[in-house]
Amino acid sequence: MLASALPRRWAHVQGVGRRAALAAPLFSPDEAELLVGAALLHDIGYSPELIDTGFHPIDGARYLRETGAPTRLVNLVAHHSCAYREAELRGLTGELAAFPAEVTPIRDALWWADMTTTPDGEMTTVDQRISEVQARYGPADLVTAFIRQAQGELVGAVERTEQHLQAAGIAHA
Ligand SMILES: [Fe+2]
Repeated sequence: MLASALPRRWAHVQGVGRRAALAAPLFSPDEAELLVGAALLHDIGYSPELIDTGFHPIDGARYLRETGAPTRLVNLVAHHSCAYREAELRGLTGELAAFPAEVTPIRDALWWADMTTTPDGEMTTVDQRISEVQARYGPADLVTAFIRQAQGELVGAVERTEQHLQAAGIAHA
């Protein structure tokens, strides 16, 4: 759904999937599958045919819910990478509330995978990623305000995941 309409986004998503697969050994086989699945689906809401609220975590989660995707996967997509803060800025907190948030190492690993992958699907650091988002959207954009507010939580999820990776001897940089 992204490949033809939004090839760059698709490249990003595949990179996030590769990052998630790297972290998968931290989890049980079921949770590893959930993590990689959520990584590959986290930005599906950007697909032009799915745009409804215009906020991709909600549009993607609603679509996945309709298709009968597992509830945890749907909710991980709805809340990926601190979506609640951007939902606040967009006046979509009520819509997002249909999807309960989980606060777990799996969630952290998904955020880590997204926040350490460039728009082209290459590896990066969370600090570079946040700077790149601000530069790409520009100072006046809502997304720039969002990423500034979300920075602490995003970096926290990345640091926790990288500690787990390091403890497991998984090279990630
Ligand atoms: Fe996203």
